[in-house]
Amino acid sequence: MKINIAIDGPSAAGKSTIAKRLAKQLGYAYLDTGAMYRCVGYEASRRHIAMDDEQSLNKLIKQIRITFDEHGNVYMNDENVSDSIRDSAVSAAASKVSVFPKVREQLVAMQKEIAKSKGYILDGRDIGTVVLPDAELKIYMVASVEARAKRRCLEYQQKQHPVSYETVFKDIEQRDYRDSHRAASPLKQAEDAVLIDTSEMSIDEVVKTVMDLVAHVKGDV
Ligand code: DC
Repeated sequence: MKINIAIDGPSAAGKSTIAKRLAKQLGYAYLDTGAMYRCVGYEASRRHIAMDDEQSLNKLIKQIRITFDEHGNVYMNDENVSDSIRDSAVSAAASKVSVFPKVREQLVAMQKEIAKSKGYILDGRDIGTVVLPDAELKIYMVASVEARAKRRCLEYQQKQHPVSYETVFKDIEQRDYRDSHRAASPLKQAEDAVLIDTSEMSIDEVVKTVMDLVAHVKGDV
């Protein structure tokens, strides 16, 4: 029996790393919903659309087609944007465009359509509350701002463009604030979600914790 798994939480809490590992182990499909908001933010800045121009953003979404391949690459109108959308300026743009209900409505509809069958792992901010309210397992993953900033700095270093710890720390704080204080589907823990604080945990430990929960939900224990 396959189930759907919703993973929500603030930026850089480890959601996508864990979701990818789980997808591999379980043979499930992974959908990175943040990548979709990133595509909108990225394309809006390329077309010089203001991040608060809701009407133009709304029109823009109708002109872009976002697809994924089995290796986790992200395509916007067939252009591979996997690396470009990870830029820190795009992180901020994604967070800004995601406050608009019309933007969310369209992306949520696409996400629901993709994950209409079982065997999906979705990560984001509103998966357990809005996109997959019936998911059999909901995880709310958190970590201290310090732990998240350290991890992001390491990632930037590995990608050969280091960013200072202070800059990353401030970016995370700003995104946390914006993502959890917006009126439309703010980041919050679903009532039936299991809270996991990854600050002091290794990737293997988090994967094991979630795999145990999956087994429990499926009645395999
Ligand atoms: O998960 P991420 O850091 O790639 O997401 C980028 C931004 O997109 C994030 O700051 C808020 C927004 N987002 C959202 O509002 N809802 C989601 N389900 C996923 C992301």
